[in-house]
Amino acid sequence: MKPSTPAVALVGATGAAGSTVLRVLEDRAFPLCELRALASPRSEGTTVTFRDAQLTVAAVSPSRLEGCDIVFFAAGGATSKAYAPLVAAGGGVAVDKSSFFRMDPEVPLVVPEVNGEKVRDHRGIIANPNCVAIPLSVALAPLHRAFGLRHLTVATYQAASGAGRDLVTELDLQVRDDAAGRQPSHSFYPHVLHGNVIPGGWKMHGDDTDEEVKVVQEVRRLLDLPDLGVGITTVRVPVTVGHAAAVWVELETDADPAAARRILEGAPGIRVVDDPAAQAYPTPREVAGSDEVHVGRIRRDPSREHGLALFVVADNLRKGAATNAVQVAELVLEYR
Ligand code: A2P
Repeated sequence: MKPSTPAVALVGATGAAGSTVLRVLEDRAFPLCELRALASPRSEGTTVTFRDAQLTVAAVSPSRLEGCDIVFFAAGGATSKAYAPLVAAGGGVAVDKSSFFRMDPEVPLVVPEVNGEKVRDHRGIIANPNCVAIPLSVALAPLHRAFGLRHLTVATYQAASGAGRDLVTELDLQVRDDAAGRQPSHSFYPHVLHGNVIPGGWKMHGDDTDEEVKVVQEVRRLLDLPDLGVGITTVRVPVTVGHAAAVWVELETDADPAAARRILEGAPGIRVVDDPAAQAYPTPREVAGSDEVHVGRIRRDPSREHGLALFVVADNLRKGAATNAVQVAELVLEYR
């Protein structure tokens, strides 16, 4: 890739994560000479806003990706599988939000605060991790460096937007139906989400959700701990934006909560909000719109040796998806 102001395309520009990529490119003043907004044929001719201009959306095709230096993919695994290799073959770099390439040993899986140097190993495709794996790895990497991570237990509270704009629309309609005293309906998700907490909704792999399998594999890969023991249950909650996770870690050496707090406060991409006596801890509603991973409720877990408990919250559309992808693209330009 040559130019300092690359030609950029965004596949999935009309979706929940893709439209957030547009906002993050604006917010971070990402250098580009051209931005092509692409989606499915359903959206051909519609428009999206970028830097006060209206971009006309086109259906993704090989010819529409020709000559692109950086292509963000936010349109699902099948689209990434079909088109990301074409971008790489044409000398560009695909930054892929889907899970399709994440465990491919030839494709780096990157969170800049955790393993940014891996961007240098790319062969035209870089995978953006899962929206839970990103904040978990950001919060755990500094603790692992300082104290050694021996075991991890996680329960998630995941927002509707993590499943895409269709679940957000369904949740909004359910809120209205419940307020009007009507029985809410559902078609996209297996249960009514409003007024509910759902430990499923993902494809199953035996007894585990697809999400649980992904988070375990990706956290191990990001932290370079292939044998890390992880217990996890992933849960969808009726929140629009912001994934939260209750996290328990068992460390190799004793970690005083005050020392852990100081380490997290000094680590990149993290904001510590931790004064429970004053009711200060991160919540999805307050964290939505932020690019930082927020950590609070840092305390000893006396039920296990060298145990710590923490509560981790991040905007799943920003740091959990778009912000991480744009940071990765910034590293691609930096390392050129
Ligand atoms: P479209 O709006 O044309 O359906 P979300 O993750 O919020 O559900 O959004 C999915 C994004 O992926 C949308 O931008 C959607 O475009 C796009 N998309 C879905 N299927 C395809 C496809 N086969 N080719 C290109 N883009 C697709």
